[in-house]
Amino acid sequence: MLLFNPISISFTLKPTAHHHNHHRNVAVFSQIQPIPIPITATNLSISDESLRSKGFNFHRTITDLNLDHLNSVFVAVGFPRRDTEKIQIALENTDSLLWIEYEKTKRPVAFARATGDGVFNAIIWDVVVDPNFQGIGLGKAVMERLVTELLRKGITNIALYSEPRVLGFYRPLGFVADPDGIRGMVYSRRKNKK
Ligand SMILES: CC(C)(COP(=O)(O)OP(=O)(O)OC[C@H]1O[C@@H](n2cnc3c(N)ncnc32)[C@H](O)[C@@H]1OP(=O)(O)O)[C@@H](O)C(=O)NCCC(=O)NCCS
Repeated sequence: MLLFNPISISFTLKPTAHHHNHHRNVAVFSQIQPIPIPITATNLSISDESLRSKGFNFHRTITDLNLDHLNSVFVAVGFPRRDTEKIQIALENTDSLLWIEYEKTKRPVAFARATGDGVFNAIIWDVVVDPNFQGIGLGKAVMERLVTELLRKGITNIALYSEPRVLGFYRPLGFVADPDGIRGMVYSRRKNKK
């Protein structure tokens, strides 16, 4: 599991003078409590306008999002196929999401979402870019905007799961593995069996 660590990127945050540990007993992640400062479009590696001129449109709601098409992108990058109806429920229960539509086909080509409690914590899921559109900055564009939106809401404990081969994508975006030895743990029923 990776945690967002503002210290690893200088442009988004400054260190706080006051450390508010609201939930010391439950979250190891609460050690990171910086004060978000306003993030402007100039901090983004590519502007909305520039993306639009290349035929890519940003969306922040699931209106106009064809979930079967989104599911196809998930499958194309190797995620197991999931019921589209369940994806719909998951997205309805998602606080922040972003997707990029390719104007020419009207299909989603990049996606990311974050679930959470709306004030302290968020976990980012389903970061994907259609393989035909990878390597041109769309993944970074989506992640920058999603993190920015969370920080604007004051949410500073931001975590995600990363496959080893993608660590290098997340690091420049401000994510670090095991800061101060903090480890993410996942429930694993299988391992408890004798
Ligand atoms: C990982 C993924 C989201 C990256 O999206 P992308 O649009 O291809 O990446 P970008 O073009 O925005 O790349 C941004 C930067 O990250 C780098 N990068 C991209 N993928 C990388 C990887 N796997 N490892 C290291 N660096 C990577 C790029 O070189 C680029 O660097 P630059 O800013 O110095 O030019 C995309 O490749 C993908 O969907 N992969 C399959 C699904 C997946 O693994 N999702 C993550 C689940 S943990």
